[in-house]
Amino acid sequence: MNTDTNARDEKDRVIIFDTTLRDGEQCPGATMTFEEKLEVAELLDEMGVDVIEAGFPIASQGDFESVQEIARRSKNAVICGLARAQPADIDRCAEAIRPAERGRIHTFIGTSPLHRKYQMDIDEAECLARVTASVSRARGLTDDVEWSAMDATRTEEDFLCRCVEAAIKAGATTVNIPDTVGYAYHDEFGDLIRTLQERVPGADEIIFSTHCHNDLGLAVANSLAGVTAGARQVECAVNGLGERAGNAALEEIVMAIHTRADALSVWTGVDTTLLTRASKLVSRVTAFPVQYNKAIVGRNAFAHESGIHQDGVLKHAGTFEIMTPESVGVKESSLVMGKHSGRHAFREKLKELGYELGDNAFEDAFVRFKGLADVKKHVYDEDIEALVDQEIASAQDRIRVTSLTVIAGTGGPQKATITLDIDDKQHMYESVGDGPVDATFQAIRALVPHDARLALYQVSAVTEGTDAQAEVMVRLEADGKIATGRGSDTDTMVASARAYVSALNKLLARGARRKPETMLAS
Ligand code: KIV
Ligand code: ZN
Repeated sequence: MNTDTNARDEKDRVIIFDTTLRDGEQCPGATMTFEEKLEVAELLDEMGVDVIEAGFPIASQGDFESVQEIARRSKNAVICGLARAQPADIDRCAEAIRPAERGRIHTFIGTSPLHRKYQMDIDEAECLARVTASVSRARGLTDDVEWSAMDATRTEEDFLCRCVEAAIKAGATTVNIPDTVGYAYHDEFGDLIRTLQERVPGADEIIFSTHCHNDLGLAVANSLAGVTAGARQVECAVNGLGERAGNAALEEIVMAIHTRADALSVWTGVDTTLLTRASKLVSRVTAFPVQYNKAIVGRNAFAHESGIHQDGVLKHAGTFEIMTPESVGVKESSLVMGKHSGRHAFREKLKELGYELGDNAFEDAFVRFKGLADVKKHVYDEDIEALVDQEIASAQDRIRVTSLTVIAGTGGPQKATITLDIDDKQHMYESVGDGPVDATFQAIRALVPHDARLALYQVSAVTEGTDAQAEVMVRLEADGKIATGRGSDTDTMVASARAYVSALNKLLARGARRKPETMLAS
């Protein structure tokens, strides 16, 4: 973490505005439960993120409640909610953020010709009137108001200047310039921020913010061009989560600023050593895998394979490393205990990996660890993480995999016999299928009838070796809802069953209190 903040000028501080729980959660398949959102918010708060956009309160009762609870619990960050330029949205948002020590209403309207015509069918005058009315209303409810010009980068420059001026006059304290469709080129984006600062009266009184989408892979570059031009807030999301190709990745923004302080002359208050933990947490709760070669938090981000690179790094890490793994919280992958290790050592290991489990969850995880150590020669940190992540993810589940036996091989037919615990009752079913995975999924489908379509089935290994745990990802789609589940085990079929059941549980969690057997069938 950069601790020498005393020496830094406040005007050079870049406010990190995290939208993992709003723009990120909004993207298909990334839905998080209430508890998961609280967990993510807690870590963001601890990490030193300045503003947490916790959700879109009018969107659903669930969103409202999670924003409200995050507002209640957060200790440091400003808690922000999103609202369209409509009185009901703004009022609901104000109610949700009320418990926060410091709350913000973020209201937006589409300003580009396409958005004005096709989204709202309004002319420029009406758009300007709505900017004034929405910001004024928000300002009547809180002192901290952010206004966004959705699709700003495809808005006529003159009109955008007038909108920004109207928002400032009405009391906006932050003006966000989103590249909503990820269309801008970095020079253009920087120029736009510069132009707004030069042309709009009152621009020096407020903070300009960037919100860049990654459709052309330019989100981080564009955000940094905005900062170079004078923006002092960057909106971003952990692992670059967000609509379509996502938002600027928080970890990349923070580390670019941190590593190239010489080039950018700005700083953030984020504790960089928590970036890896945040990435893993968001990946676990969304079941979105992190690309192996992803900058900063990818599995290979600090791996050196070629002889020349390895030799160089051994002689001096700086030869091929521009940041240390420790600076982003990567710990040496270490061999953990074996089957003789006891509870004390296991608890210490969990602490070192950043987990705090309640007594019951700890016992369950310990039993699974012992089982794993029985069948797997080397147990690594990654194994423990996969195991505990699964334990945490399934803590609230109504359906659990109790046992699975599979007959596979060339002879056919492949068969699966599965026992599921559904709302504390055991149910067993045997099914044949086109291969062991199909047989397993058919058996689950027979016990929990549903119309969900299997949209993704993906297997990867947690560590190396033939005894490595398989990590399986399953995505299900039902009635326009998408849920992704993850399961791990040294047996790929067991991992597959767990992943499928995990996705089903997520679909169930979104429904009412109907029985699992009936809730998913239409
Ligand atoms: O991409 C976008 O324009 C947004 C706004 C709501 C800020 O997400
Ligand atoms: Zn967005």
